Amino acid sequence: MKILAVDTTAKAASVCLAEEDKIIGSFFIDTALTHSRTLMPMLEALLDNTETKADELSAIAVNAGPGSFTGVRIGVAAVKGLAFAHNVPCVSVSTLESMAYNCIGGDCIVCAVMDARCSQVYNALFHVKGASVERLCDDRALALSDLKEELLRIDGNIVLVGDGASLSYAYLKDVVPNITLAPMNSRIQTASSTALAAFGSLSRGETLTPAELMPVYLRLPQAQRELNKRLSAPPSAVIDHRVYTNIRREIHMIALGCDHGGFNLISAIKKHFDEQGIAYKDFGTYSEDSVDYPVYACKVANAVVGGECELGILCCGTGIGISMAANKIKGVRAAVVSNDFGAEMTRRHNHANILCMGGRVTSVEDALRYTDIFLNTPEEGGRHDKRVAMLTELDNGRTSFD
Ligand code: RB5
Repeated sequence: MKILAVDTTAKAASVCLAEEDKIIGSFFIDTALTHSRTLMPMLEALLDNTETKADELSAIAVNAGPGSFTGVRIGVAAVKGLAFAHNVPCVSVSTLESMAYNCIGGDCIVCAVMDARCSQVYNALFHVKGASVERLCDDRALALSDLKEELLRIDGNIVLVGDGASLSYAYLKDVVPNITLAPMNSRIQTASSTALAAFGSLSRGETLTPAELMPVYLRLPQAQRELNKRLSAPPSAVIDHRVYTNIRREIHMIALGCDHGGFNLISAIKKHFDEQGIAYKDFGTYSEDSVDYPVYACKVANAVVGGECELGILCCGTGIGISMAANKIKGVRAAVVSNDFGAEMTRRHNHANILCMGGRVTSVEDALRYTDIFLNTPEEGGRHDKRVAMLTELDNGRTSFD
């Protein structure tokens, strides 16, 4: 098994070609040159000098984040392209986890820290003992003061690695007595550690297609934060649909439900959410066996009006029956959507809280786009607040406004 590994998540860039027990070749560069200039020449030289053809590889691994947003994008994009062209699977490695592999052979808690700016570090903790690496928490972005509180509760030797290690060490060394800084040769991320981590994933069959490989930012990139800010401002007269794609706002949980006619769309939406790290709760149905759509409409409706989920998505054959059922539940504003404009306007003007679509009338591609627009469009106030309040009055038993 040969793995080609890439890291461009911080200032240094590195590539490595490895077999299970051997590093065949590697390049590492830590200069002011951008990764877009250094990465491809390093990859080419590595493959040429080792007389390796890309289609012989068992996988191409990449540190997919966290890290510098541009750096992450360059590494992931290069690996996607190479893997796609040569029909090779990809392995996505956490940058933080790859650095735990810098310390194998020891017995310590590895505290991987990368500079996340905004007074935070990207961090994860690992117990490394001999050749085993045990993850102790998920990758996260947190303040150094919060990390300090956690480290104070850990017995045993803590080793700091990562491009934020020196800074963190200066802050922590006087208060956390059992902490040390990893030596220079094992302090930052390198593609050889990425390769080591990737062998484990590969042997467990945890590979991705190039299309599935995605950057892992942990926090929204600056450009998207700016866009979100703009989107929360009053809308401009001209609606630019492009800006609504792939932007997440403060939605913590989305309720999903369908009958057999909508199972195809909900399955695609779940995959789409998995790729983007969007949290959802799936209320079924879980196959194409015939079921009654009101059952699933009620489950999702109650999760939304009960506050368990902020928004919901329901699919049946046409989207119509399941929306009718959901709208019988007080507080639900379910909208059947069949175009981009409707997906946007039903959020802006009707404050729709459930998006409904039909698996027999809407393509997967359109459904995913309506989903993105729906989830990323804010509710407008002003005259729309008044009209939505009138809908609530109807919910409460009113039958006319004469
Ligand atoms: C089920 O055959 C179908 O009637 C249902 O999925 C939906 O289209 C109802 O509106």
